[in-house]
Amino acid sequence: MVCLGNICRSPLAEGIMQEKVAETGLGWEIDSAGTGAWHIGNPPDPRSIAVAHKYGLDIANQRARQFKAKDLQKFDLILAMDNSNQSDILRHAKNDIERNKVRLILSYTHPSEERSVPDPYWDDNGFEAVFAMLGEACEMILKEHN
Ligand code: 4NP
Repeated sequence: MVCLGNICRSPLAEGIMQEKVAETGLGWEIDSAGTGAWHIGNPPDPRSIAVAHKYGLDIANQRARQFKAKDLQKFDLILAMDNSNQSDILRHAKNDIERNKVRLILSYTHPSEERSVPDPYWDDNGFEAVFAMLGEACEMILKEHN
């Protein structure tokens, strides 16, 4: 799960997906990262922690890290929150195998659109909607790959 800062969107995606994977007993490893370096080592944004908490998820122990080229080798699927994250990730890809691992997360709910998860960093009221769309996307990811 990859966004820009790894403090707002992708920590929510990581927490939501981890819970779904645990519920279904799948052994998938879920992680998140940011393409930017500003927040390395920081916990998620308090507003992400709060909306997760409201829906029974504790993401407070996550710490931000920066996306690295090796993630494209290690993980089977790299899910970008928006187009800009996607193109930053693709810049690290060395071959088609790596390129084909990269998708927009909302392509699972809106397959024929290039839809992005809006960055809620500058919008206190955006976190609920982000939580809801990530929940739907994670449900579809489970269905498509399970
Ligand atoms: P995120 O949101 O990419 O969903 O973690 C942002 C967090 C921080 C910044 C931008 C977006 N920032 O500019 O510091």
